[in-house]
Amino acid sequence: MNIQWYPGHMEKARRTAEQNLKLVDVVIELLDARAPLSSHNPVLDKIASKKPRLVVFNKADLADEKLTSYWLKKFSQDSPALAVDSKSRKGLPYIPGVVEKMARVRTGRPVKCMVLGIPNVGKSLFINALAKRKVARTGNKPGVTRGQQWIKVGKKVQLLDTPGILWPKFEDPEVGFRLAVIAAIKEEIYSVEDIVFGLIEWLNKYSPCVWEKRYGLYSSDTPVEIMEQVGRKRGFFLAGGKVDLNRAAVHILKEFREGKLGFFTLDDS
Ligand code: G4P
Repeated sequence: MNIQWYPGHMEKARRTAEQNLKLVDVVIELLDARAPLSSHNPVLDKIASKKPRLVVFNKADLADEKLTSYWLKKFSQDSPALAVDSKSRKGLPYIPGVVEKMARVRTGRPVKCMVLGIPNVGKSLFINALAKRKVARTGNKPGVTRGQQWIKVGKKVQLLDTPGILWPKFEDPEVGFRLAVIAAIKEEIYSVEDIVFGLIEWLNKYSPCVWEKRYGLYSSDTPVEIMEQVGRKRGFFLAGGKVDLNRAAVHILKEFREGKLGFFTLDDS
């Protein structure tokens, strides 16, 4: 997902998505369940306004269950919406039946679908998991166009093998922070320390007991103190004995992304 988004890339990605949209009956918009609002790019509302859309919250295994239900209700006011975990395939078996109902196909031919979403929401894994084999070709190079292949998902649904990538949209720095935490934008924009600084403040506000539960720290302190204590606990030292704060930050972020600090949704209600 190593993309630097420039206006030329965005334009090309948009054009490619628009061309591919002409080929399909249903659009599957993949969002990250940990930030369903922030991982939606409104450009999709413009380019896919005429197609039935299924909204899928992926990575539901890492998100707060209550907030997933809350956001699913909100999103389903506009389009059908469901939550899945592509790693364990939980929720995926419902998808063929849902898209079949949504599509306006009357001739008995398979329903054609394509997956669209911003980087790292799990498009490739989702396609592979739905197809039950490794088929997804990475769509992560903006503007690369190739011959399209259709993947059979059961007898009645076909999926384009190349997911459409949309660029992450974040005029609001808070949205940018959330996208950085879920690794939808690369660390060229926010440094790991910046992301983790914000993340510690967020966790101190919403779930201050994580530090005790995961690292045995007994007081919630400032971000730097927490990084220092975690580094000390994990034995991350620089030559000379100082704590390696960068390594501690990388570690905290990795553990958060893996769900080891708990299951969280960054877009609150
Ligand atoms: P993309 O095409 O949208 O860019 O995303 P991709 O499928 O490459 O998935 C990005 C990362 O998210 C991968 O992890 C993938 O395993 C993980 N992922 C995708 N869907 C889910 C899900 O439903 N639940 C969880 N927990 N993780 C998911 P990675 O660490 O980059 O790669 P890997 O080591 O897992 O292969």
